[in-house]
Amino acid sequence: MRAIVVNTPGGSAALEPAELPDPVPGPGEVLVDVAASGVNFIDVYHREGRYPLPVPFVPGSEGAGTVAAVGEGVTDVVVGDRVGWAQVLGSYATKIVIPAEKAIVLPAGLSPDLAAAVLLQGLTAHYLTHSTYAIRQGDHVLVHAAAGGMGLLLTQIAKLRGARVIGTVSTSEKEKLARQAGADEVIGYENFADEVKKITGAGVDVVYDGVGAATFDGSLASLRPRGMLALYGGASGAVPPLDPQRLNTAGSVFLTRPSLTHYIADRDELLWRAGDVLGWVASGALKVHVSQRYPLAEARRAHDDLEARRTTGKLLLIP
Ligand SMILES: NC(=O)c1ccc[n+]([C@@H]2O[C@H](COP(=O)([O-])OP(=O)(O)OC[C@H]3O[C@@H](n4cnc5c(N)ncnc54)[C@H](OP(=O)(O)O)[C@@H]3O)[C@@H](O)[C@H]2O)c1
Repeated sequence: MRAIVVNTPGGSAALEPAELPDPVPGPGEVLVDVAASGVNFIDVYHREGRYPLPVPFVPGSEGAGTVAAVGEGVTDVVVGDRVGWAQVLGSYATKIVIPAEKAIVLPAGLSPDLAAAVLLQGLTAHYLTHSTYAIRQGDHVLVHAAAGGMGLLLTQIAKLRGARVIGTVSTSEKEKLARQAGADEVIGYENFADEVKKITGAGVDVVYDGVGAATFDGSLASLRPRGMLALYGGASGAVPPLDPQRLNTAGSVFLTRPSLTHYIADRDELLWRAGDVLGWVASGALKVHVSQRYPLAEARRAHDDLEARRTTGKLLLIP
């Protein structure tokens, strides 16, 4: 099979196209011919060694395709099924073996392309809005990087739950996309906490912050007393260690650093969230904005674009 391999963590040059032996599914596993792999910021963290992995490894955590073979004991999924997955390393490849318990059978009519574009970020937006902080009708919500892969989904799902959404973006093109996704107010990053206070008075109920280092202080300052900062990533870099007293002075606020792994803790939880997300896509309630499709061999270009803030919505690699 063809794949992208990281032999030595580092910049995007670490993503090397390679030929590897076809994988074989063991007991409880499924072999999939990959139709599309999603590009996510976590792939950058893996590639650069911020989240260290044993080398060599094939990066990529998300994709969709057609089941080509099943291992012993697999009954839920059969050859020919179209499936998607999130959080299975090795997705930047033409073939992948995934645990059957992570396979999500796609509803009829949903293309693998679209599934690969929405699963990981859609599941994340689902748990952030339904579980980490369960948005209630009328809540004020701040979504950073509102035109990004996560941002467009978070904005739409927060609106589905009845929130008033403020989004941050860096360009006018991104502002337009955030507004199309339903953001009520779209602002720049400069002095954003002051803007948020002007709009809301007391501050927002929750901040969804995947930007990290650059926005953290302003995010704390944007909260109402007893609000919640869900710091779910660090696209601009990791947030330095902090004195818990800062949560007191910010208004007895809550800080959490959640991860998808802990919110799809078992198959029931995975299928609940995936069922909601794919159902919204099928009904048209959730729009998936795929901005760029790159040939698999051009994974480097995809990472360069993502890290340079040149992208909006979702990036896919097509084998
Ligand atoms: N914890 C979890 O379970 C989980 C799961 C999925 C994703 N995530 C996190 O979600 C975040 C977004 O991921 P994504 O794949 O959807 O990416 P993305 O939001 O499409 O891309 C990152 C965006 O962040 C903004 N940004 C601000 N400062 C930046 C900087 N210095 N460098 C790069 N980008 C910067 C940019 O938008 P502007 O130009 O508008 O600022 C950029 O387009 C990441 O932090 C990722 O780790 C977390």
